[in-house]
Amino acid sequence: MTGKRTIKSAKGKLGVLIPGMGAVTSTLIAGIEMNKKNLGSPIGSITQLQHIRLGKRYENRNPLIKDFVPLTEMKNLVFGGWDIYKDSIYSAALKAGVFHPQQLEPVAKELKAIKPMPAVFDKKFVKNLNPQIIKKGKTKMHLALALIKDIADFKKKNKLDRVVVVWCGSTETFIQPSTVHKTLANFEQGLRKNSPHISPSMIYAYAALKSGAPFANGAPNLSIDTPALMELATQEGLPVMGKDFKTGQTLMKTILAPGLKARMLALKGWYSTNILGNRDGEVLDDPSSFKTKEKSKMSVLDSILDPETYPDLYSDYFHKVRIDYYPPRGDAKEGWDNIDIDGWMSMPMQIKINFLCRDSILAAPVFLDIIIFLDFAQRAGLSGIQEWMSFFFKSPMCRPDLKPENDLFIQHIKLKNTLRLLMGEEVLDHSGLDYYENENAVPSMAEPAKPYRKKGKIKTKKKVLLKK
Ligand SMILES: NC(=O)c1ccc[n+]([C@@H]2O[C@H](COP(=O)([O-])OP(=O)(O)OC[C@H]3O[C@@H](n4cnc5c(N)ncnc54)[C@H](O)[C@@H]3O)[C@@H](O)[C@H]2O)c1
Repeated sequence: MTGKRTIKSAKGKLGVLIPGMGAVTSTLIAGIEMNKKNLGSPIGSITQLQHIRLGKRYENRNPLIKDFVPLTEMKNLVFGGWDIYKDSIYSAALKAGVFHPQQLEPVAKELKAIKPMPAVFDKKFVKNLNPQIIKKGKTKMHLALALIKDIADFKKKNKLDRVVVVWCGSTETFIQPSTVHKTLANFEQGLRKNSPHISPSMIYAYAALKSGAPFANGAPNLSIDTPALMELATQEGLPVMGKDFKTGQTLMKTILAPGLKARMLALKGWYSTNILGNRDGEVLDDPSSFKTKEKSKMSVLDSILDPETYPDLYSDYFHKVRIDYYPPRGDAKEGWDNIDIDGWMSMPMQIKINFLCRDSILAAPVFLDIIIFLDFAQRAGLSGIQEWMSFFFKSPMCRPDLKPENDLFIQHIKLKNTLRLLMGEEVLDHSGLDYYENENAVPSMAEPAKPYRKKGKIKTKKKVLLKK
């Protein structure tokens, strides 16, 4: 594909409907409201803060991504969603304890106004929670239709131009894909016949796509990642992405592992353990929900290290991931990694990481970027799996015959090059040879590169020298 795509305008309001209005969702919405009142900065968000280099290095074209690509502005997001608890976003934020009550006070009115709609819930898939508000329906198809009505009503009531749906609900128990997930016809039959293999997150995904809303999955459960729902996404021409927000320990893994591999250092073992005390930790205390999370966290190393190509370095390492529910810590998770590596002549070395992170503080900007790029993808006419969004996910969705890309740095290049491609800009290969071998590409050697800043804001080197 060459040349700029036709991208529909980002004007108007974007509805964001979220199944699961707990810690991450309330941290995101509270942060956006604080930012509107200049009470905090969206640190960690690519769409809000990152620049993108365009063209050759000497061209000094380095705009903010949000100035280069037509993206929805934060102020135009309208939030709603579903939960099994009736807490408003304000109460959910207070319970999650990510922000202090004093920090939430200036935005309390806005947060109190956002209340969840009754959820589609099945305790078989999330064993450690007891619901307060849930929908009732004779079949799973009736529940899907109730969600479709919720989406239409929300759009109408808030006079929205577009809607996206992002699953931020609890991690569901591990499910192996089966016959009901193979085709759309099987899936719809399964909805009508109350198939036990269809989980609530799949019903939300179905309802979103049927309503013309793109869908993303912030948790590791299967949800939309089945051939049946992919068939529906393609049929409706809608983008989808997932799974599992990349934060905390896995973020560190996908930063460090590519470095070890790039330097051809052998891996002998990687032991990761965490303590966390939020509701997510409580849900993951159930072994069947933990199995879903474990699979998502475990898969990254193999796909980065590629043991098939490097059997001597990476085919025999020991990898263990643990999460322990430890209530006193709340959302302030602590992770420890012990990494055993071998160097020259197989001499052993160790790396220790102790990450005192905040789960939802790392997840909120990723969530924001997913919302904004999901809407952008739809306006750019992209449909099906959005592999260029792998950067944001622990267990990125990709075509079944391809290996997922987990290396954070390759994911970052993929993300930025996709934006360049869609906007009709040159894709950067970073080889740099053309600066030295192609004379036409080199500007006058006498002209030093100018620093990229708005005119008049900083003194160029030349001016400083003249003053001296
Ligand atoms: N916090 C992170 O850094 C992080 C990173 C990656 C993925 N995740 C995933 O994101 C999800 C949300 O995390 P969290 O920390 O906000 O958890 P949380 O427990 O605070 O919030 C999840 C909410 O989902 C609700 N819920 C459960 N089933 C539902 C259903 N069927 N319909 C509607 N609501 C439902 C729960 O009642 C709860 O309020 C989890 O699956 C978690 O594993 C979180």
